[in-house]
Amino acid sequence: MNDRIRTDIAHNARVWNYWLGGKDNYPVDRAVGDQVVSFHPSIGEVARADRAFLGRVVTRLAGEGVRQFLDIGTGLPTADNTHEVAQRVAPDARIVYVDNDPIVLTHARALLTSSPGGVTEYVDADAHEPEKIVAAAGEVLDLSRPVAVMMLGLLNFVMDTDEARSIVRTLMAAVPSGSYLVLTHPTLEPELGGEGNKAAMAFWNENATPPITARTREEFASFFDGLELLAPGVVSCARWGAPEAPAVAQFGAVGRKP
Ligand SMILES: C[S@@+](CC[C@H](N)C(=O)[O-])C[C@H]1O[C@@H](n2cnc3c(N)ncnc32)[C@H](O)[C@@H]1O
Repeated sequence: MNDRIRTDIAHNARVWNYWLGGKDNYPVDRAVGDQVVSFHPSIGEVARADRAFLGRVVTRLAGEGVRQFLDIGTGLPTADNTHEVAQRVAPDARIVYVDNDPIVLTHARALLTSSPGGVTEYVDADAHEPEKIVAAAGEVLDLSRPVAVMMLGLLNFVMDTDEARSIVRTLMAAVPSGSYLVLTHPTLEPELGGEGNKAAMAFWNENATPPITARTREEFASFFDGLELLAPGVVSCARWGAPEAPAVAQFGAVGRKP
């Protein structure tokens, strides 16, 4: 076993996999995952809505001609990973995955099953070091052409909002006009049913890794400063491109670099 893998403390990538119905998790992940459900019963719906958002957004962007995707905070391979969705529309799509969890690294081969005309690559890197991510992505992607920069359920692990904004700015400065920023992020906002996240996140931060934070609508919207938000703007990720769906306490939005 990779000696960075700890089985004595719950890891986000594995608990997320548990909530999605996957098998790549340990007893400690399932125990913490079940406790979080007791505080925030709809967390499984959040995880599924987040993945469905990924599917709708990547299908749409690939359909509009985007051929390069930088998916940071990839998570464990599951159904309809970014390259599968993108290459279904555009077999020549190029995808770079980035995560810092050692268990995701051990499963990276499953993320590297590109269609013949396209490319997928996996980079073991930390979102706190966006310059390294840009350098590694530039080995695979043509950074003079549009890129969809995706961070789904990731900036919530960057505790400082100014740092999270700075990560977004560094990444978006490295890609040209016509590129996209795709984000999802949990919230406590009651309008989206987020109240349960408060106790769930407090429990998480005492028992699991990495620490997590929620953000308000304004904080989430600020990540898109300088970008043009695609309709319908900042909404529950469940409702982006599916206006009738029940909301979950996770914002989703897509911005285009002008
Ligand atoms: C909630 S999961 C989301 C997975 C996937 N993006 C999705 O939406 O289904 C968050 C992922 O971010 C990864 N992650 C957390 N902090 C990170 C960091 N500082 N750098 C890179 N990846 C990180 C975790 O390992 C985990 O796989």
